[in-house]
Amino acid sequence: MFDPHSKRMNTVYRYTRHCYDISRKFFLLGRDGLLEELGKQDYKSICEVGCGTGRNLIKLAKMNSSNKLFGLDASDLMLKKAEKRIKKLRLEDQICLHTGLAEEYEFNKQFDILVFSYSLSMVADYKKALNNALEHVSDDGVIYVLDFGNFENFPNLIKKLMYKFLKLFSVYPGKNELFSFLKRNNVFYETRDIAGGYSFITKLTKS
Ligand SMILES: C[S@@+](CC[C@H](N)C(=O)[O-])C[C@H]1O[C@@H](n2cnc3c(N)ncnc32)[C@H](O)[C@@H]1O
Repeated sequence: MFDPHSKRMNTVYRYTRHCYDISRKFFLLGRDGLLEELGKQDYKSICEVGCGTGRNLIKLAKMNSSNKLFGLDASDLMLKKAEKRIKKLRLEDQICLHTGLAEEYEFNKQFDILVFSYSLSMVADYKKALNNALEHVSDDGVIYVLDFGNFENFPNLIKKLMYKFLKLFSVYPGKNELFSFLKRNNVFYETRDIAGGYSFITKLTKS
């Protein structure tokens, strides 16, 4: 991994990847709700952009064994962790992992669903990442963004501390910027807040 962003991600996760799934269970709210929603849908392929340790992809594979799943991540250290678990569970025929950047990775195929689960707030250029995702979703496909919100209903002090804490992990929440971008680019979306603005989930479609 030679580009600066991938190096940064490897630095963020160098040690924390070993306790990632246990520790993030309490912070990354809404992931299981999103997976349940996906599990009810009729899709053939899903790509998770910023799939990390493969936690979500493995859960999706267990829900439905006939669909093809793809994971992209900037950090090869996180992907090594994912690869190990996927092999252990013998899911390598169903889940295919790719190392690269959300902003530019070329899959040469389109997916029914793309998912950004707590990854869009970490990419260096969220506009490029979304444009690339829009290129890779089929015309009737859906992109889901689950991420940290603006903590609207939290006291100011907690809000400030949360932003400082997230910055330590190179996380920069940008809900309002995302919505402005979608409006400017005529991308349709529905959104709802989770836990008083702690996080949000947005469903994007091309039409
Ligand atoms: C907070 S983790 C979320 C992992 C997983 N989606 C989950 O819900 O547990 C964010 C992941 O996004 C990846 N990431 C950050 N910037 C990226 C980029 N530009 N392209 C691809 N992956 C990226 C990080 O390496 C990390 O694995």
